[in-house]
Amino acid sequence: MPHITYVEHDGTEHTIDVEESMNLMEGSTINLLPGIEGMCGGICSCCTCHVYIEGDWAGKVNPMTEGEKRLLENSQYRKDSSRLGCQVIVTHELEGMRVHLPPAQG
Ligand code: FES
Repeated sequence: MPHITYVEHDGTEHTIDVEESMNLMEGSTINLLPGIEGMCGGICSCCTCHVYIEGDWAGKVNPMTEGEKRLLENSQYRKDSSRLGCQVIVTHELEGMRVHLPPAQG
């Protein structure tokens, strides 16, 4: 299983194994990590799974859909590296990926 590191806004890091085909939100919530809520269960309608993909990893994740893009445009914490964790599918190619969390969700 790929190791993914989630970095809280205060810099606290959590490295966990996430099963392939799960998404980043599921990996975080199943492992009870703080910072990602996933209120809509992953149907791309709540924006409480916001993450920033670190560096070159952004080019290795599946592309953003129009729905995800529209939802993120409403987030005050949006950056170029923003993604919704529930829309990023974990694959073996993401071994070692790091994601950062915004100051707040929603
Ligand atoms: S969990 Fe709701 S948009 Fe990702």
